[in-house]
Amino acid sequence: MIEYRNLRIALLGGGSVGAQVAALLREHGDELASRAGAGLELVGVAVRDVNAERHPPIPQHLLTTDAEALILGADIVIELIGGIEPARTYILQAINSGADVITANKALLATHGPELFDAAEQVGAQLYYEAAVGGAIPIIRPLRDSLAGDRVERILGIVNGTTNFILDLMDTKGESLESALATATALGYAEADPTADIEGYDAAQKAAILASLAFHTTVPLEAVHREGITSVTPAQVESARKAGFVVKLLAICERLVDPVTGVAGVSARVHPALVPLSHPLASVHGANNAVFLEAEAAGSLMFYGAGAGGIETASAVLGDLVSAARRHVIGGPGVAESTHANLPVLPITSVTTRYQITLSVIDQPGVLATIASMFSDHGVSVEAVAQSVSPATVVVAGTDEPRATATLVIGTHEATEADLAATVAALKSSEVVSAVVSVLRVEGL
Ligand code: HSE
Repeated sequence: MIEYRNLRIALLGGGSVGAQVAALLREHGDELASRAGAGLELVGVAVRDVNAERHPPIPQHLLTTDAEALILGADIVIELIGGIEPARTYILQAINSGADVITANKALLATHGPELFDAAEQVGAQLYYEAAVGGAIPIIRPLRDSLAGDRVERILGIVNGTTNFILDLMDTKGESLESALATATALGYAEADPTADIEGYDAAQKAAILASLAFHTTVPLEAVHREGITSVTPAQVESARKAGFVVKLLAICERLVDPVTGVAGVSARVHPALVPLSHPLASVHGANNAVFLEAEAAGSLMFYGAGAGGIETASAVLGDLVSAARRHVIGGPGVAESTHANLPVLPITSVTTRYQITLSVIDQPGVLATIASMFSDHGVSVEAVAQSVSPATVVVAGTDEPRATATLVIGTHEATEADLAATVAALKSSEVVSAVVSVLRVEGL
């Protein structure tokens, strides 16, 4: 029987992930010790209320409300409280007392990451955060280690399970956004305040973390362009399907060159997008997550699985725990976060992509030519046009006559955000356009 040195593990938070981490650590402690080369002794779990019900239950003697005392006696601190404070203060205390830290806190990393990484580097501690993006899916370590010798060009991620679940129900069952959200909430997928999910804040935090790692550059949360899914309608989803696409909320991180200034940099954005049904991301259903990545040498890779859930996320936390324990056994300082490239972070206006625009137009001779000229006047090249007769009629200002309308679905070649915005403004003010029904970016072609 090998005698291992014991490492003292402090757990902050006894929620759905924390309770599973505590249970798995007790259940598989011996096996994890042999993998880590050190005993992993859970010395306590800091919680707000020691009497709250927990699933699975945590032995009462481990529970405490004194997080600071627990941190001071620990070799490794696992922060699963979430939110900014007191999580930030506890992590800084842990780092400054010489502990390594494991966290799943995407909001904190996206907003205070550089402060925490700097603090860790100062004392040679290590901050691990595999569970912060994509739950159980290994994506942080592949970006940080496995792909460290490659050049990541682009990431397309479905990183919010709630919105994927909602859009999937809208697509496969024709549900409204409201009823799909109610189901997501009932199943416990949505955050306490679903705004974080449906308005894209949660995905934007994850995009900032992924872009920072992928491009060795600090990408602040404020630089992530964000649009949620609240304006996506069942009609848009249905017409997308008919045209061979599915609507997904994507986190897109990419290297790009601003077409006007010629500045080379990176960008991160979150918005609903049309994904071709033939793309691997189109088959990510339910609350699952996936990160599709293109690297110069590796080519295309996809990481797929459960993006949330107590026991699934606990898997990523325990992986970090074994890594942290191995580092303690070997000794030496932690590896600093790589931000050496420090590339300019470009705004959404630097982005070039394809679009699909759906218009309701007056059905009369010359309308198609008028609309085509609005695209060409703003430098946007049309790739495809599909027209269908619409049952709706409109009454044009200054006339009493109801006029027949048609629906035009226009796909563009790559265009800049600025040129596209100018085209849409012109369409909106045109007399032959009764409504700009939807403007969606097309990704993954
Ligand atoms: N609310 C998040 C989601 C949980 O739906 O993906 C994981 O961050």
